[in-house]
Amino acid sequence: MTPAPATPDLTALQALSDSFEAKAPHDLLAYAIGTHFPDIVLASSFGAEDVALIDMAHRINPGTPLFYLDTDFLFAETYATRDRLIAKYGIAPIQVKSLLTPERQAETFGDKLWERRPDECCNQRKVEPLTRVLKGYKAWITGIRRDQAPTRANAGLVEWDPKFQLVKFNPLARWTVEDVWAYIKLHDVPYNPLHDRNYPSIGCTYCTRPVMPGEDPRAGRWAGQAKTECGLHPK
Ligand code: ADX
Repeated sequence: MTPAPATPDLTALQALSDSFEAKAPHDLLAYAIGTHFPDIVLASSFGAEDVALIDMAHRINPGTPLFYLDTDFLFAETYATRDRLIAKYGIAPIQVKSLLTPERQAETFGDKLWERRPDECCNQRKVEPLTRVLKGYKAWITGIRRDQAPTRANAGLVEWDPKFQLVKFNPLARWTVEDVWAYIKLHDVPYNPLHDRNYPSIGCTYCTRPVMPGEDPRAGRWAGQAKTECGLHPK
């Protein structure tokens, strides 16, 4: 794999991002994959946004690299969704794991790290593995949307990711949750059945709970903790 590029011209990147504001996610995704393949990768947690992107990317280039951070704490339904996507699209998601098994993590940091130091748990199980995998690429694609959280309200369609030092494409940034579900239904995309059981946002088993009607869709992530992001995306 080629090394990550030096910081690009941020003004040019902003202009590129602006030029896609009036276009559809598919157009941006086609541009991203067309320009950067094979040095571009789709980050998927197999949530609603990600399965829509998997379907879209498959139509553009079925060989688009795709990875998932397997924290060892994912729901059985998430693994089953991964397997249904593999069966439908013939994709080969790259499994990226923490350097620490859950047992080794408990030996090193003590039991139930996610309860005591959730940031450190996310660091070990998501951020370090993400840093490692992204070193092999020049651009990544994520499913973040602007209306998911205040921390995401200013997400660009195309951005420089200063933390991981590569270009970041957020093709669904302008979409609402209704747009995402309309796409999933229209194209009969396999999705995580937990979404039908009041889990709008799905992470690890220990740190995800269903939300009540009227609650913020991300209220089920790290509930009871002063934490809204795990470190993959800016806080
Ligand atoms: S998180 O940072 O709070 O976990 P969220 O679940 O909203 O993020 O997902 C936002 C985007 O981050 C997803 O669309 C996906 O691109 C990426 N992402 C989140 N979790 C993972 C994961 N386990 N593996 C790969 N990508 C992920």
